[in-house]
Amino acid sequence: MKPYAERRARLLAQMERGSVAVLPTAPEVLRNGDSDYPYRFDSSFHYLSGFGEPEAVLVLVAERGDAPAHSILFCREKNEEREIWDGFRHGPDAAREAFGFDIAHPIAALDEQMAQLLANATTLYCPMGRNAAQDAQVRGWLESVRKQARSGVVPPSSLRDVLPMIEEMRLLKDATEQAIMLRAGQISGAAHARAMRATRPGKFEYEIEAELLYEFRRNGAQFPAYTPIVASGANSCILHYNANNRRMQDGELVLIDAGCELDGYASDITRTFPVNGRFSGPQRDLYELVLAAQKAALDAIQPGKPYSAMHDAALRVLAQGMLDFGLVDRNLSATVDDVITNKRHLRFYMHGTGHWLGMDVHDTGAYRDVTQAERPSRPLQPGMAVTVEPGIYVRPAEGVPEAFWNIGIRIEDDIVVAPDGYQLLTGSAPKTVADIEALMREA
Ligand code: GLY
Ligand code: MN
Ligand code: MN
Repeated sequence: MKPYAERRARLLAQMERGSVAVLPTAPEVLRNGDSDYPYRFDSSFHYLSGFGEPEAVLVLVAERGDAPAHSILFCREKNEEREIWDGFRHGPDAAREAFGFDIAHPIAALDEQMAQLLANATTLYCPMGRNAAQDAQVRGWLESVRKQARSGVVPPSSLRDVLPMIEEMRLLKDATEQAIMLRAGQISGAAHARAMRATRPGKFEYEIEAELLYEFRRNGAQFPAYTPIVASGANSCILHYNANNRRMQDGELVLIDAGCELDGYASDITRTFPVNGRFSGPQRDLYELVLAAQKAALDAIQPGKPYSAMHDAALRVLAQGMLDFGLVDRNLSATVDDVITNKRHLRFYMHGTGHWLGMDVHDTGAYRDVTQAERPSRPLQPGMAVTVEPGIYVRPAEGVPEAFWNIGIRIEDDIVVAPDGYQLLTGSAPKTVADIEALMREA
C-alpha cells in the first residue's frame, strides 16, 4: 500500500491547486462468445493504485481552499451472485482499507460525483484523445457542470493530459519496482536456460515455447510479457516471428525472445543458440560479434551519458564486423563511418539497441529532451530500466557470403541504471558460447 500512496502524493504535488485528476483502469476485452481475454489492468492506473480489478477509476483531488488533497477510488460493489461466478471483489470499503485511499465509492456513482468534484475546479487532468468512450465521458461531466452555471458554478477552464506526467514518474523505478523487476528477470533467465536444455533437432518450436511458459508460471509470473518468439533457421531473420510451429533442424540456430510479466512488470530476454548444442564456425563468428556489440553497449551505460550512447557503441562494433565478414562490400575500402553514414548496416541490423522497460515491455517515458531545439537523447539516470539488445540478421541474397545465410542472432538483457553503472537483471540466462554449449551438453 505504501508505494502507491507515495506515488499518488508525488503526482498530487505536481498538480495545480484546485485541480482534479481522473484515471480509469483498462476495460475487459471480449475474445469471442462469452470469453474475455485474460484481464490486464492499465499500467498507469495500477502504478498509482495497486488495485487490479476492472471497472475502477482513480480520482485525485488537489488542495482546494481549506480542503486537503485526497484520493478517491471508484470500484465495483460487492455482489454475491457475481462473486459466485467470477470471484472475489473488494467492494469500496475493503478497497479503501487495503489500498489506502481516503474515500471509495461504487463505480455507479462516478458521473454524479465527478459533476460535483469538477464544479469550480481549476484544471482537469485526464487521459486525452486515447479512447472515444473516455473522451465522451469527460464531455458529459463538463456538460453537467455547465448546467449548474446559474448557481454560480463554473467548469474547469483547462484540460491537461495526465498520462505524460505519470509516464515520466514510471520511467524512474523505485526500490519496490526494482525488486520485482529483478525477480522477473531471474525467472525469465531460468526459462531461457530451461529452453536450452530442452532443445534438440526434430523438436517443434512450440515445444520450446511450452517450456518457457511452464517456467514462467510455475514461478508465479502471471503472464508472458509479450508473445514469445521461438524462431529456428530462416525464421530467426523474421523480427516479429511468433507462429512457433516449425520443426527445428540439426545445424540451425534458434532465436528465442521471451520474458515473463511478474506482478505487473515485464522482463524481456533474447538468447540465440544452436539447435544441436554446438555452434558452427560461421554461427560462432556472428555470435561473438553480437556479444561484443552487446558488451560495448553495456559499457556505454553510465548515469549522465545519453541513452543513445549504447546504440552508437553497439552499431560501431556491428558495422566493423559487417566489413570484416564481407557482409557489406569490402571493395570500396569502406570504413565503419562509411557503413553507418550510408546506412548500409540497415540491411543486417534494422532495429534500435534497446528501449525503456517496466510495467509495459516497451515502457513509457520520453527518449529525447523535447525542451531543447535539437531534441538530444536524454541522459541516463539511476532507476531507469532499459533492454540492451543488439542483433544481426542475414537473409539469403546475392553478394552476401552464403555461409552466413539464414543466421539471425539477437542477445538481449535487461538492466537498471545504477549510481556507478548498471545492475544486470537477467544474468541467470546463459550467454557465452562456452556456457551455452556446456549447458546443452549436460542436458
Ligand atoms: N520483445 C520485444 C522487444 O524485444 O522489444
Ligand atoms: Mn526488447
Ligand atoms: Mn525482446
